[in-house]
Amino acid sequence: MGLNPLMKITNAPATGIDGIALRQIEPGDCEAWYAYLSLPQVFERTSWNLQSVDDLRATLEGYLQDGPTTPLRMAVVDTSTRQLVGTIGLHTISDVNLSAEIAYDFAPGHWGRGLASRLCERVTSWSFQALGLHRLQATVLVGNEASERVLVRCGFRHEGLLRGFRMVRGTPGDFNLFSRLSTDDAEIAGRPAGPVGRSSATSGS
Ligand SMILES: CC(C)(COP(=O)(O)OP(=O)(O)OC[C@H]1O[C@@H](n2cnc3c(N)ncnc32)[C@H](O)[C@@H]1OP(=O)(O)O)[C@@H](O)C(=O)NCCC(=O)NCCS
Repeated sequence: MGLNPLMKITNAPATGIDGIALRQIEPGDCEAWYAYLSLPQVFERTSWNLQSVDDLRATLEGYLQDGPTTPLRMAVVDTSTRQLVGTIGLHTISDVNLSAEIAYDFAPGHWGRGLASRLCERVTSWSFQALGLHRLQATVLVGNEASERVLVRCGFRHEGLLRGFRMVRGTPGDFNLFSRLSTDDAEIAGRPAGPVGRSSATSGS
């Protein structure tokens, strides 16, 4: 058993959400991505440490290298405006252990629409079925309750607290560890419910 080839994403999973699509993230997404990643309400919930859009551009270029463990990052786009709504993908990919970590972020104007819950579920299923992963994990900075809700809803289980796990802009941060296995009972996984509608808030991107 091995990992299916992981390269730049040419066949992103269908989202099942009207007006929302996934595709490979591209250099042209950098400005819009940085516009919301640099907002305090976004970066404070993550370990991103970006001084400029160029920092993000360098990270993104790493995502475009073909290789079995290259991070996979997809742009979440509004299909009518082509606007970047968020990103979601996998990093810390192990082709030996068939495992990876899922990560996502959305522009604040699109929070609360159920997008993260639905797309986390889609990408989780895709990583098991299309890529052949066995374990998907997520690490959540302590206090990020919205992200924990997303994961629990998608059937991820809390495994414990990782003390001082990752540097958060120069300070060791504690992270909660969640995981879901391809063999977990489908009934255990929460199913995102409710319609996905447009947010009345203005987009942060
Ligand atoms: C976390 C994040 C991805 C959630 O995206 P979203 O599309 O708004 O998520 P959803 O609408 O699918 O669901 C959010 C859930 O969190 C809950 N929630 C939202 N804000 C919350 C808060 N401040 N405290 C507790 N729960 C909260 C919502 O009620 C919802 O739960 P429910 O469906 O059980 O009611 C988004 O807030 C974000 O991009 N944050 C900044 C980046 C980030 O934190 N990335 C994840 C790093 S691990």
